[in-house]
Amino acid sequence: MERIMITGALGQIGSELVGKMRSIYGNDNVLATDIRQTADQSGPFEILDVTDAQRMHDLAKDFGADTMVHMAALLSATAEEKPLLAWNLNMGGLVNALEASRELGMQFFTPSSIGAFGPSTPKNNTPQDTLQRPTTMYGVNKVAGELLCDYYHTKFGVDTRGVRFPGLISNVAQPGGGTTDYAVDIYYKAIEQGSYTSYIAEGTYMDMMYMPDALQAIVDLMEADPAKLIHRNAFNVTAMSFEPEQIAASIRKHIPDFKMSYAVDPARQEIADSWPDSIDASAAKSEWGFKASYDLDAMTFDMLEKLKKKLQLV
Ligand code: SER
Repeated sequence: MERIMITGALGQIGSELVGKMRSIYGNDNVLATDIRQTADQSGPFEILDVTDAQRMHDLAKDFGADTMVHMAALLSATAEEKPLLAWNLNMGGLVNALEASRELGMQFFTPSSIGAFGPSTPKNNTPQDTLQRPTTMYGVNKVAGELLCDYYHTKFGVDTRGVRFPGLISNVAQPGGGTTDYAVDIYYKAIEQGSYTSYIAEGTYMDMMYMPDALQAIVDLMEADPAKLIHRNAFNVTAMSFEPEQIAASIRKHIPDFKMSYAVDPARQEIADSWPDSIDASAAKSEWGFKASYDLDAMTFDMLEKLKKKLQLV
């Protein structure tokens, strides 16, 4: 990885990944692209609609990219509201990014998700290799994407790599249209209002990870010795699994009067209920040394500190 092109650079992950990669590989060696304009001038930026295959190819070629990190996608709840748009954007963008990687010989990364699992998947300690019959458009996209990445590797020799991310929590860019977004919103509301109304029901467990661990996982997997990779794509990764009352209890260690109530959103609850309670990340650990450094309390401490500063409440 020396010259890296990132799509969806202004999204939930991209917003922080660009900075992380620029700090490691040099500002001028990371080309950020997104469908929206940015004010950030820390390095090269180009407008890109990922459904435009020719422009994606041309940008990567002109930049001399040796690596494509493809992040642009709709998240689960939005994809459920706009399934055809999700298909066109998530699958169209992915195949364009894979084609550009094949044509230009780029290493390739794209994230899959816990959304690639479905109601018939074992719910606890979900294995790396298991039943995947998701019931959401997002999940259909993710499973198809996992298979497509494997195909581009076995058929064309493209160095495709990827992980199945759990819900990601960060204090920089807010997610939009995801099912796990509550675990980000809750910290903002805890600071701003001292209370939160959760759209996910009490007792609903989902895997989660703090963004610094997610970014490090991307770098570690991309830098991993390919000889050690038995899987290449869609590695289960997770740092913690919790339900809403547990994140509320973690927040109360710092904001004792924090109040939690519920107004369950049936659409997002149904998606959450179809996903695992906890996944097994042992393949990622043994094949490329994945590890997460933040547990729930460490993440809560850091989130509250950073958000207080961001919201200028200190
Ligand atoms: N965080 C994502 C979502 O909720 C899961 O990949 O859609």
